[in-house]
Amino acid sequence: MKFFIATDHAGVNIKPNIIEMLQNMGHEVVDLGPQDNSRVDYPDFAHKLCLEVLANDGSQGILICGTGIGMSLSANKHKGIRAALCHDAYTAQMARAHNNANVLCFGERVVGLGVAQSILNGWCQTNFEGGRHAQRVAKIEI
Ligand code: RB5
Repeated sequence: MKFFIATDHAGVNIKPNIIEMLQNMGHEVVDLGPQDNSRVDYPDFAHKLCLEVLANDGSQGILICGTGIGMSLSANKHKGIRAALCHDAYTAQMARAHNNANVLCFGERVVGLGVAQSILNGWCQTNFEGGRHAQRVAKIEI
């Protein structure tokens, strides 16, 4: 899987660990920044990442800010992006299985490295179930 990843200043510290975790699982990761913890605006990075995910068929995105909330709100403004704010392995699994989410959001100030790893495992090991969920997902777009 090709992943794009972006954060704001409140999510940048955990980013190298997340990239390493994904690479250890065999995924390709493209880092869209930022590269230091200077203050930035999370919507700028959310929008940059969503354009890449939409332009690269089959890719997925990971957005990290302090809480994950601002990133998910921003990402979900894009038609075709289904960004899910996940707090644990269960929400990550359900975001993939039932919602066919293509962008994972979480908060560096909310989850530690252990929980982040379980979120990534849950996300990466779960496929969309389709079936009855497909018609519901199709209704998300208005
Ligand atoms: C930055 O202080 C913080 O507001 C941001 O990272 C995010 O949590 C917003 O939703």
